[in-house]
This record gives sequence, C-alpha cells and structure tokens, in this order.
Amino acid sequence: MSDHTDTDLAVIVLAAGQGTRMRSRLPKVLHPIGGTPLLGHVLHTAAALAPARVVVVVRHDRDAVAAAVAELAPDATIVDQDEIPGTGRAVQQALDALAGFDGDVLVLSGDVPLIERDTLAGLLDAHRGRAASVTVLSSHVADPAGYGRVLRDASGDVERIVEQKDATDHERQVAEINSGVYAFRAASLAVHLAAVTRDNAQQEMYLTDVIGLARRAGERVAAAVAPDATAALGVNDRVQLAEAARLLNERIVRRWQRAGVTIQDPATTWIDAAVTLAEDVTVLPNTQLLRATVVERGATIGPDTTLSDCEVGEDAVIRRADATLAVIGARAQVGPFAYLRPGTVLGAGGKIGTYVETKNSRIGEGSKVPHLSYIGDTDIGVNVNLGAGAITANYDDIDKHRTVIGDEVHSGSHNVFVAPVRIGDGAKTGAGAVVRKDVPPGALALTVAPQRNVEGWVEKNRPGTGAAAAAERARSAQESGDGTQG
Ligand code: UD1
Ligand code: CA
Repeated sequence: MSDHTDTDLAVIVLAAGQGTRMRSRLPKVLHPIGGTPLLGHVLHTAAALAPARVVVVVRHDRDAVAAAVAELAPDATIVDQDEIPGTGRAVQQALDALAGFDGDVLVLSGDVPLIERDTLAGLLDAHRGRAASVTVLSSHVADPAGYGRVLRDASGDVERIVEQKDATDHERQVAEINSGVYAFRAASLAVHLAAVTRDNAQQEMYLTDVIGLARRAGERVAAAVAPDATAALGVNDRVQLAEAARLLNERIVRRWQRAGVTIQDPATTWIDAAVTLAEDVTVLPNTQLLRATVVERGATIGPDTTLSDCEVGEDAVIRRADATLAVIGARAQVGPFAYLRPGTVLGAGGKIGTYVETKNSRIGEGSKVPHLSYIGDTDIGVNVNLGAGAITANYDDIDKHRTVIGDEVHSGSHNVFVAPVRIGDGAKTGAGAVVRKDVPPGALALTVAPQRNVEGWVEKNRPGTGAAAAAERARSAQESGDGTQG
C-alpha cells in the first residue's frame, strides 16, 4: 500500500459472467484489445485510483480468469461467485470479502474496458461531493439496445434502472444508459443487496435493482453522465469487441501523434497499449506495432509491417516486414519482404533485405544479408556481406547447430553453410559453395568443381533444334569475323 492510497475506496470488478454472446472458448473478459485482455484494461484503470482493496469476482472458466488476475493484478482478491446468477449476487459476495470496510465501493465491469481513470475520479468526486448512497455512471448513446436504461422522475432525479429485457417499449426509448460502473456507500449497498430478488426476465439478481431500492428508502441516488459516450461501451459480442478495439486504437494513435509521432494512416495503423514510440518516428500505412515494441527516434516503420515485442534503434528503416522478438539496430535497414523471427539481433547500420528470413541470429554492425536468404542459429561479425541466396543449413534432422561467420567476410552468391561451421575473419567463399568445413581467416573457400566446357555438345546431341542452329550461327560468325568484333 503506497502513501497515496485512497483508504476510503475499494474496487469490485465483475468478471464472473459467461459471456454467452461472444460464442467463444475464451472467457469474454480475457479477449484482448490493444494487446491486453478486456479485464486487464479495467484492472489497470482501477489501480490508477490507488484503492485500498481490489476484489475480482470470478466463476465462468474460473481458473483461466483467476490466473489472468493473478498476473495482471497480483494484489487483487479473487472471490468465487456461487450458483446464484447476476451482477447483484457477484457484488454481494465481493462485499463479504470486504468485511469491515466502510468506505466507498466502486463497481466496474470486466467487459467495459474503455473507462478512463479521470472519468472514474470524476464519478467518485460527484458521489462524495453529494454524499450520495449510490452514483451510477450513465451515458447518452445513439443506440441504447442491450443496455439497462436510467429512468428519471419528473424533476430529473434518478428513480431506477430497468434492463432491456424487462423494459416496456416506452422505456426502451430512453437513450440514457447504465454504463455498468457505479460508486456506492458500502453499508447502504449491503443493506439493499439483501433485498434484491430474482423476480425478472433473466431470473438473476440485478445489481441495478439497488438503485431503485435506495431511492425508495429515501437515500440520495445520483447519476453522473460520462463525458464521452464511447467510454461506457460494453463488450458483449464480437461486433462490440471490434468497436472497442478500434476506439482504443484511436486513443492510442492520437496520444502518439501528440507525442511527436507521424502516423500517416490512423485507420490502418494498430498500436498496442504497451508500445513505446519516440519523437519523430514515422509509421506508414498498414502497420501493426504489437506487445512491448519500442521504437527509437527517427525510425520509419511500414508500410505493411508487423512488429511484435521488437526493439528498433534510431533512424532504422523497416519496410514490409514481419518481426517478432527482434532487435534492430540504429540506422539498420529491413525489408522489403523480410521475416525476422525471435532472437534476431541486427547491428547498427546492418541490413536484412528482400526475401530474407532470420532466426536466433546475431548480425553484426554494418553487416548485410541483402537478398533471398535463410539465416538461422548464426553469429555474424561486423562488415560482412553475404551474397544473394545464402542459406544456413542449421538442422541435421536431429539437432540445431550454429554457424559462426567472422568479421569482414564476403560470401559468394548461393552458398550453403552446413552447421556447425566457422568462417574466419576476412575469408571469402566462391559462388555456389557448399561450406561443410571451417574456413581459416583470410582463405578463399571453393567447393564447386572447376567448370569443364564440352565443345560442340549441343550440335552433336540436339541437331535440328533452335539451340543447335543458334550455336552454329554464332560459331560461324566468330570464325569468319575473327577479331573484327573487337
Ligand atoms: C449490465 C447491466 C446493465 C448495463 C450493462 C453495461 C445488470 C443487471 N445490468 O448488463 O444495466 O447497461 O451491464 O455494460 O447489471 N457478471 C458477474 N456475475 C454474473 C453476471 C455478470 O460477475 O452473475 C459480470 C460479467 O462478467 C460482466 C459484468 O458482470 O463483466 C456485466 O454482466 P453482463 O451479463 O454483461 O451484463 P449486461 O447484460 O451487459
Ligand atoms: Ca455487458
């Protein structure tokens, strides 16, 4: 507990529901947006309020959700909901785990991921400022279908919340919806939950019933309208999941643009929440920057590039590439059409070029693998140039072996390096070499037999063909014009 902890605040996060409408093997609250489960966004926002306690209610796919909570918010208390369904029951059981706590309880839904810290702080301020028993965060939305509606009396005070399935046609016209986020006084909440029944269309204990009960008990009930309708978006199906992902991405893109990143086409640029970008980074269309990717100043990424958990150095240029767990040095060039698999480390000023695949390999400063290559389990020194079509044969059907290439090595085109093998500093290899033995420093390795030309072979063995005719013409021209062609 840090010293800025709000000792009067506990947060309950609801994550026990089945998420039927997702039609998924994965529990709804574990579906990711921006690279983080829905529940992770909610827990992260909750933590920003520094509450004294965080309680997460689980039931459906309990072990998977509990494991995610343990990872995302290790200090949170996990509470198992019993067989009685509904958000009301979930909160009731969470309150049991908060026994003795007598402050404000903020209830968040694991499926309302876009809620922001400032919105919650505003809700709490409104709640505390008015000394309300309950303050619900409401929102005016274009399409209220599926949400609970906030019903107000003639003087505009909140009277109760009615669920879509229990609402009359008239009530369904109401466009002010319940966001599923509330602040309660703990004591009042416990009293009213005890009176909530399952007498409704879904035969569930509705948390929303507490609002009507508190109001009828003469307590102060309020609604705080969310400043931004998208903040309250609840994810119940995959249409809403995509919508939430898009809205989150829009937020992230805008944040980086304001921080000095050029993003040419926000609509086709996807940036995970955990990504870090420096000033003067340029991101070109159709680019995904995923997980914990970090890009340094001045680098250009894209178009058509996916980087996941990568580090990109200053002024590097990456075009049409797919890279995971790769480190790309300053001023290095990657692509177009490059595939960097985990463990690729490209030194400053190096190059991984066109149709090149790399894996678990270090390519030293200034070294280049420009064309049509597979480099796996390899250490390459500095200022190396591998000719087009360099292939490391790293796998002998049983084990993977390393290839070690020294500094300043130049290899000929179309070489195969059969690992384990070492190429000494400054060595060279001929075109087409299949390098099975170590090459000493400064040596030239040739493995292809000297060329032998069998004169007249075509005319003798393929008489009457176009090739034979062409060869014949060339030879007679050569003989008659001897020397004249220069
Ligand atoms: C709920 C609200 C609705 C509101 C909407 C906002 C109720 C009765 N209705 O409806 O007024 O407009 O959220 O998004 O509260 N959960 C549990 N235990 C349960 C059931 C649900 O923990 O037994 C959790 C779910 O995992 C989810 C959250 O509570 O994170 C909301 O449940 P959901 O079934 O999605 O409620 P909605 O129908 O969306
Ligand atoms: Ca919901």
